[in-house]
Amino acid sequence: MDNHSHELVEFNNLRNRFPGILQAVDGWLTDREIEFLAAAAAFPTADGEILELGAFHGKSTIVLALAAKLSDGAKVTSVDPLEAAELHANLQAAGVAADVSAIDAFSFDMYGSWDKPLRLLWNDGANDIATVRDDIQAFLPHLADRGIIAFHDVLNRSGDRIHNFVDDILSSDHFGACGICGTIGWAQYHADPSTTASLKAERLALKDLLTPLRAYHTWPRDFGRMTKIAYKIKRSRVPHGPINVAKWIDRVGAGDFAATGLLT
Ligand SMILES: C[S@@+](CC[C@H](N)C(=O)[O-])C[C@H]1O[C@@H](n2cnc3c(N)ncnc32)[C@H](O)[C@@H]1O
Repeated sequence: MDNHSHELVEFNNLRNRFPGILQAVDGWLTDREIEFLAAAAAFPTADGEILELGAFHGKSTIVLALAAKLSDGAKVTSVDPLEAAELHANLQAAGVAADVSAIDAFSFDMYGSWDKPLRLLWNDGANDIATVRDDIQAFLPHLADRGIIAFHDVLNRSGDRIHNFVDDILSSDHFGACGICGTIGWAQYHADPSTTASLKAERLALKDLLTPLRAYHTWPRDFGRMTKIAYKIKRSRVPHGPINVAKWIDRVGAGDFAATGLLT
């Protein structure tokens, strides 16, 4: 039995309930992406709140809120201009309406007013390079030391976050542990860049694997068969399997749960 066995039992119970809870909620998250987001929310790497950019009908919002309730109960704020009635109904049905602050706005409407420390910043809103870069610049200063930043759709062609993940995150010495899970690109922020030296080779190796994929984002959506095969081969070289939650906890140092109540 490892140090995290109690938390993992709680976590696995929740994970097994997700298919039922999320059954009627529209969205694009895969099972492994749900599991990654749940782990990032359930196992805090720092003190702070959780900010989601892009709620749609609340699939990831529900995952984040239910998982955070397993540990520090971090408040989840979700920003989306969609004003979807489905979002509020789905949060209510999942029992997390009181745990989520759903704000009808674009991310950029919040730039001047956000003032809370964050332990998790989840980007699933704007998907163009300029807005995502503005989002990063606006909210990164609020990310706590050792907090996690994660971007959806890095490893597919549905948008352009791959460019931000490579240029703004993987190229920065402020990021240590990092990886891809499904299409999610994630990294751990270090306020002091000198503390990421031992992780730099790993970060740059991921950057090298992602870089050849960037050119395909300038192609028309339906590129030819051979181009598609070439893209898929390059994509398959990027490790993007399910996370091993216990190993992930150790990797990002999300280990001290005695104070959270999860061990009792
Ligand atoms: C892919 S959906 C989000 C999916 C959701 N996270 C889920 O798990 O189902 C993208 C959402 O981002 C919203 N959006 C687009 N630009 C945005 C921005 N600048 N700030 C916040 N939300 C934005 C859209 O209205 C849309 O609902």
